[in-house]
Amino acid sequence: MALDCLIDPVTERYLRSLPSLLPESLRELEEFVRSEQLPVSSKEAIEMLIFLCTVHKPKRILEIGTFVGFSALTMSAVCPEAALDTIERNPVMVSDAKQNFQRFDAKNVTLFEGDAAVILPNLSGTYDLIYLDAAKGQYPAYLPQCIRLLAEGGILISDDVLFRGQVSAGKPDCHRNQTIVNRLDEYLHLLKTDPRLTTTVLPISDGVALSVKRRGVLDEKA
Ligand SMILES: C[S@@+](CC[C@H](N)C(=O)[O-])C[C@H]1O[C@@H](n2cnc3c(N)ncnc32)[C@H](O)[C@@H]1O
Repeated sequence: MALDCLIDPVTERYLRSLPSLLPESLRELEEFVRSEQLPVSSKEAIEMLIFLCTVHKPKRILEIGTFVGFSALTMSAVCPEAALDTIERNPVMVSDAKQNFQRFDAKNVTLFEGDAAVILPNLSGTYDLIYLDAAKGQYPAYLPQCIRLLAEGGILISDDVLFRGQVSAGKPDCHRNQTIVNRLDEYLHLLKTDPRLTTTVLPISDGVALSVKRRGVLDEKA
């Protein structure tokens, strides 16, 4: 069963009608990406990012999946003191994102061009917040690197983990989505059973998993 949204449409419409947390400077860009129906993070996911950035005050942020830079610009605006690294493999998106980072003077953003599978193992240091929003079928493969790169007490936000209700329904809406549904189910079980993480899965947006890295647990698996 494929769903347009995971919560009932009336509640979703009402929540979306409430005043937005998005910084004023990004409202025009948001209008553009939403009117063009570009695959950027939903309003709910963006509000969650803003909320978590405000509460957690990360000093270093990693995003996997830049697209045109909308979510990166949001985090950059909410956490101007933070250094934000973001990874994108599609050259067209890289070019659009670069233009947007320049347009919004996002000096705290560094764009890594290439496949996250190649870039992640070469990143060093730790991040206080990691936003995973790239190829859904690759989430289990990214997880060991995300955990390695996550600071103790750091938060991993994984977007779209319920994949329009297809993960919870246990079946894809078409044959080619079978692998994604299987991998996301595997990913959620990995998150929930990893002793280094505490994870909760929220049925907002397209499903958001929030994981915090426990303090004092050895990184034996990474
Ligand atoms: C849903 S979009 C990201 C939207 C963005 N976070 C936002 O809300 O503004 C996913 C992006 O991840 C990129 N992507 C997918 N797999 C990737 C990979 N293995 N390495 C780097 N980027 C990848 C895609 O090219 C696409 O631009």
